[in-house]
Amino acid sequence: MKPERGSTIRLRPTMLSDLDFVGSVENDPANRPFITPWERVQHEGAVRFPDFRHFIIEAGEAYPSAGFVILQGCRNPHGSVELKRIVLQPKGQGYGRTCVRLLAQMAFRDLGAHRFWLDVKSANTRALALYRSEGFVEEGCLRDSVRSDDGYDSLIVMSLLEPEYRALVEARESHPADTA
Ligand SMILES: CC(C)(COP(=O)(O)OP(=O)(O)OC[C@H]1O[C@@H](n2cnc3c(N)ncnc32)[C@H](O)[C@@H]1OP(=O)(O)O)[C@@H](O)C(=O)NCCC(=O)NCCS
Repeated sequence: MKPERGSTIRLRPTMLSDLDFVGSVENDPANRPFITPWERVQHEGAVRFPDFRHFIIEAGEAYPSAGFVILQGCRNPHGSVELKRIVLQPKGQGYGRTCVRLLAQMAFRDLGAHRFWLDVKSANTRALALYRSEGFVEEGCLRDSVRSDDGYDSLIVMSLLEPEYRALVEARESHPADTA
């Protein structure tokens, strides 16, 4: 039987000794157009401050360090947790979807979120397709809000609310074959 795409994912807390790897992933030309790289000190803060969760993505023996993710708002009094960043080096192999599902589960089940949200550059068709297909709803567009190589890019704000997430999980459990 064909192994399920992206099935072997583990998130482990990022250590300060991982930050060279994190910096190299952020500055990889394959990723840079889609994110705004942070200074090392910002990552150090995210590793240390309890409002953040900073993880290295491990994808089995093939990719012991496949990328990283950051959650922000983990102590938000309104239960609004942000998927601040997700970057994967192996692309198009299903790891992104597996990871987003794990993070949604963490946000709603472990952190007690009511709202799990993110923003994504409007030109990032791959990430947009992934978030849409994982149930995120578009809330609006922050026009020309980040600089790009040829001008400005807009950010699309998307969110998933807890009742929507619960309905998705129930639907997946009752129709496992229909899930993406
Ligand atoms: C965005 C990212 C996290 C997605 O992870 P991934 O492992 O590449 O994505 P997956 O393989 O799980 O694919 C998920 C879906 O994205 C869409 N997708 C994948 N590759 C695509 C492409 N080249 N073009 C358009 N859509 C694409 C598909 O809908 C796919 O689902 P399907 O294969 O079931 O049809 C990853 O590509 C990445 O790190 N990109 C660079 C940084 C980035 O953009 N981060 C997000 C910032 S908001």
